[in-house]
This record gives sequence, structure tokens and C-alpha cells, in this order.
Amino acid sequence: TPAPAADHPHAAPTATSLAALGEQVAGCAACPLHEVRSRTVFGEGVQQSPRWMFIGEAPGEFDESAGRPFQGRAGELLQAMLASIGLDASAPAYFANVLKCRPVNNRSPEPEEVAACLPHLRRQITLLQPGCLVALGRVSAAALLGHEGELDDLRGQVHQYVDEAGRSIPVVVTHHPAALLLHWQFKADAWRDLNLLRSLGAQGSPG
Ligand code: URA
Repeated sequence: TPAPAADHPHAAPTATSLAALGEQVAGCAACPLHEVRSRTVFGEGVQQSPRWMFIGEAPGEFDESAGRPFQGRAGELLQAMLASIGLDASAPAYFANVLKCRPVNNRSPEPEEVAACLPHLRRQITLLQPGCLVALGRVSAAALLGHEGELDDLRGQVHQYVDEAGRSIPVVVTHHPAALLLHWQFKADAWRDLNLLRSLGAQGSPG
């Protein structure tokens, strides 16, 4: 079968570098969000085998205007949570989202939007080779683990994500930081989840 044309809106990402993938994402027209975005938010952080890759849901308003993930209040809280377990700005981490475009009015992503954008995230993970994935919230957990489940059923254990090359990467699931802003009692859960993450070694084994 012929390879899909690179400019086809549904072409599977074939980029072999993060920079090339970022360009592909910036020109993506695979779902209707491209008509309303002001810019894409690709992700940022340590680009070669980050120890942790944090994956949120979608950019918010501040993130879209900055072109960077986790710039708003939820992002601030995430950074504070990470600082509380000793991960500051110098930690080997990368931050991205399932969706690279902001849903209008910050509504939840539609399943079609997740399906259209997921190949970008999968490619991004393949290129980054992170030691561990952190799914922030249900949308991210469902996208990475391939099944819907109650967040509380997924928290507290280490799951496995299989990348495009067949490599297993450990996944820890926790609350979305925006949920922590609404439900302060989730913060204790999230702190426990992040400590589970902290206990994973670089190879994903506890210790
Ligand atoms: N900002 C992001 O980049 N992602 C989220 O999921 C929330 C806020």
C-alpha cells in the first residue's frame, strides 16, 4: 500500500524528529479544532529520554496564547505538586497533552478529536522514549491505556503503555490538576500517586 501523502489531513505522523513532528502538528487539519485554534501546543521539556512525561488533556486559554502546556492555574498547581515531591524546574521531565489544540470554551475533548490527535502523541512518545508516563485525568488515562475506567480504579498501580516500537513504558495515573482546583480533597490522593511515581526507578522498576 502506498504511504499516505504527508499533507493528507489524516496522514499517520511519520516524523523522525520532535521538531519535524511539531511542524506536522502545527499544520494538522485532522479534526475541526484546526479551524478555531490560534496555535497548537506541542509540548516541552527534556527531549531525550526524560525520566517522566506528564500528559494532560488539552491546552487551555493561557497555554494556547503562550504556545506552551500547563501555563494556567492548573499548570501552576501541577508545578507546586511536583515541587512538593522534590521535582523542580530542573527535573528531567517533559509536558504534553493528548490534544494539541484547545477545545472551544475548554470543553472536554470529543472522542473523534482524541482519535484524530492520538497518533501525534504516540509518535511523540516514540521519539522521546520517556522512562515513565504520567496520565493526568481520565481523558489522558483512557487515551494511553486504551480503555475507559473510573480514575480511582486506575490510580495506585503501575500500568504499561506499549509504544509504536512495541516497547513497554510504565504508566502512573492521577487526578487532572484542574480537578484538584475544584476538589481539594483529591490533593492527598494526587500526592500519594506522585510519590508512587517518585518510587519508580529510571527503568520503571520500583526502588
Ligand atoms: N494545561 C494543559 O496544558 N493541559 C491540561 O490538561 C490542563 C491545562
